[in-house]
Amino acid sequence: GHFPAICVCVFARVYMCVFNREIILENNLNTDVLEELAENSEFNESKGPCLAFRRAASVLKSLPSAVHCLGAIQGLPCLGEHTKAVMEEILIFGRSFKVEEVQSDERYQALKLFTSVFGVGPKTAEKWYRRGLRSLKEILAEPNIQLNRMQRAGFLYYRDISKAVSKAEAKALRSIIEETAHWIAPDSILALTGGFRRGKEYGHDVDFLLTMPEMGKEKGLLVRVIDRLRDQGILLYCEHQGSTVDMSKLPSRRFEAMDHFEKCFLILRLEEGQMEGDGGLQKDPGESRGWRAVRVDLVAPPVDHYAFALLGWTGSRQFERDLRRFARKERGMSLDNHALYDKTKKLFLPATSEEDIFAHLGLEYVEPWQRNA
Ligand code: CTP
Ligand code: MN
Ligand code: MN
Ligand code: MN
Repeated sequence: GHFPAICVCVFARVYMCVFNREIILENNLNTDVLEELAENSEFNESKGPCLAFRRAASVLKSLPSAVHCLGAIQGLPCLGEHTKAVMEEILIFGRSFKVEEVQSDERYQALKLFTSVFGVGPKTAEKWYRRGLRSLKEILAEPNIQLNRMQRAGFLYYRDISKAVSKAEAKALRSIIEETAHWIAPDSILALTGGFRRGKEYGHDVDFLLTMPEMGKEKGLLVRVIDRLRDQGILLYCEHQGSTVDMSKLPSRRFEAMDHFEKCFLILRLEEGQMEGDGGLQKDPGESRGWRAVRVDLVAPPVDHYAFALLGWTGSRQFERDLRRFARKERGMSLDNHALYDKTKKLFLPATSEEDIFAHLGLEYVEPWQRNA
């Protein structure tokens, strides 16, 4: 039979996860390289090539076996000329000169470094690069640079938040936030989303959805949770965005567009003692100050949008892109973090679970751990 590309990827991914971890590792060497090229294209504002490299990386990740010769990738979808050229170099020389050229590029290195700071996007990074700045030290020493509040927090906690967050740390944060939310509203619901819901061992932050079982009751809850976290002395930084949900609007065409839910981007203080299961794993005691800063995203959708929010915030980014593309191209529907809209029937398709959404799309349910595209 002829499956849509997303099905091929999804099914292959299942096999891959179950049967062969080594293959994942081997193909990941290639996909990491493609991710770097994607990032470089992004810095150069080459949207097309950026997405092409990301998609190619995703296809390679989904292969049921490692790539040992070019023949193995000949018939695959989404692999462009440039990707194939890079793969060829790697297969023949064990390295890619094109990639090494990018990696050693001064501009790429500077933009990668600058955008690694929380609150610094490609535009700001580019501005700093154009001013001749090359290191974080230089930026902090430059008197004419105005950092906004988010960037100041980004620099202040740079060391901590560029360090990977472990599953144990994510669980500890989950308990803290859940306890806080329940203290305010005993029937509130907190769900872990993002990479950790997909079963990842490490993440760059921890993502949560917070809602109430009754529609509208979520109003004001997030602000109270934040206040309580502040009272407990664990709120290091908070950027709060009020809800701008407008259900009269159709799901947005642009994937990268932010959703309209009330949310906050936080930096929280996590005490080392609050983690279970890390006993004896203490790092260099000289360096440890007993706590670390962690980035947390907390999103508060109303319960009638919950399933879409959960699907959207579970990711991965590439999986969401693929799924939205599939909805659009194969089903004539648009999907975003709020809703699924059937463009032919001109109606919104309601869902109370992720299962409902996959069913509307005519797809078999895809488990979160199968969404690591
Ligand atoms: N997301 C979103 N809107 C945003 C930010 C994120 O819809 N403004 C969604 C994306 O689909 C993304 C998911 O939320 O896949 C989680 O985002 P993020 O934390 O950036 O990525 P993770 O997959 O959790 O990976 P990491 O470990 O790096 O955090
Ligand atoms: Mn995340
Ligand atoms: Mn996040
Ligand atoms: Mn919307």
